[in-house]
Amino acid sequence: MTGVQITMNNVLTSSASQRIISGMMRLSGRGHDEALAFLDYARDAGVRWFDHADIYGNGACESIFGEWLKSRRVRREELVIQSKCGIRPGIAYDCSAEYILNATDGILKRLGCDYLDVLLIHRPDVLWEPEEIAAAFQKLYDSGKVREFGVSNCNPAQIEYLQRKINQKIGYNQLQLSLAFAPMVSEGLETNTYSQNGLCRSLGVLDYCRLNDIRIQTWSPLQFGTFQGSFIDNPGYGPLNARLQEIAGKYQVSKAAVAAAWNLRLDRRLQVVLGTVNPVHFSDLLTASRVTLTREEWYGLYMAAGYSLP
Ligand SMILES: NC(=O)c1ccc[n+]([C@@H]2O[C@H](COP(=O)([O-])OP(=O)(O)OC[C@H]3O[C@@H](n4cnc5c(N)ncnc54)[C@H](OP(=O)(O)O)[C@@H]3O)[C@@H](O)[C@H]2O)c1
Repeated sequence: MTGVQITMNNVLTSSASQRIISGMMRLSGRGHDEALAFLDYARDAGVRWFDHADIYGNGACESIFGEWLKSRRVRREELVIQSKCGIRPGIAYDCSAEYILNATDGILKRLGCDYLDVLLIHRPDVLWEPEEIAAAFQKLYDSGKVREFGVSNCNPAQIEYLQRKINQKIGYNQLQLSLAFAPMVSEGLETNTYSQNGLCRSLGVLDYCRLNDIRIQTWSPLQFGTFQGSFIDNPGYGPLNARLQEIAGKYQVSKAAVAAAWNLRLDRRLQVVLGTVNPVHFSDLLTASRVTLTREEWYGLYMAAGYSLP
């Protein structure tokens, strides 16, 4: 980032800042000063919502963020800070009350904050006990340590199973979605076919969240598979890149920004969690907030990504 000159004063409108989240998973992968400078850029651009997890950089991402909050004297209420817990390296998943409470204390300590705006359970844990999660959430809510709760990567049955015991609303579900990874879309569209894409893998999570006012946060908007890489400029996604280029030309933005706009167009409350901590890529991606794809463009991109329609 050295030598990069970008001014990003309030690129985002206040309504866009409710839909674009800066993901912190890659923050510790940059040099220390570059990471702090990235956060400055993001804040100057109008980004207000930041997504953490206790496992990102083994806690280093939250620590860097905490250092930035302190050194820049950022007013806590200016930002929406969320984190996740539930993945334990070496064990797999843990949603016991004791673990959730300890993990949240660790998150708050690293961030140097009194409270989290949102806490998510990172992944489904087949050994979870809803009563335990409910007890932990109640304590966190009563003590003021967490204001809102949600889950990530959960299907409707899993959410129902938890919500029966949890007093606070499960208000968020963070899910993987990109043009090159869209099973939550294709399973609802590719009915009357024998296509693999028509298989109902998420049990209708998109419509379930819509019906129950659960806000969907979409992660990895530029990736295909499981962290296999970006489809932007990837020769394996030739027709998709050609279509992205065409639409990018029309809106005078980049292909990556069109890809992020594709996620945003799916639902007016949906949020997109951007992963880059490179200010050049980031400032470019923020322009997605001023693109509203037409139906023709949205479905055209979907087909160019390799999906079909009956
Ligand atoms: N809930 C979950 O289970 C879960 C799982 C994974 C991630 N997440 C969250 O989602 C966030 C985003 O995930 P992600 O990082 O995989 O998302 P992403 O935005 O799809 O991917 C970002 C990566 O794409 C690269 N990239 C390639 N071309 C790019 C371009 N033209 N513009 C911008 N970036 C480009 C970036 O490289 P550069 O770094 O060089 O820009 C960066 O490495 C994470 O930070 C985390 O907060 C949640």
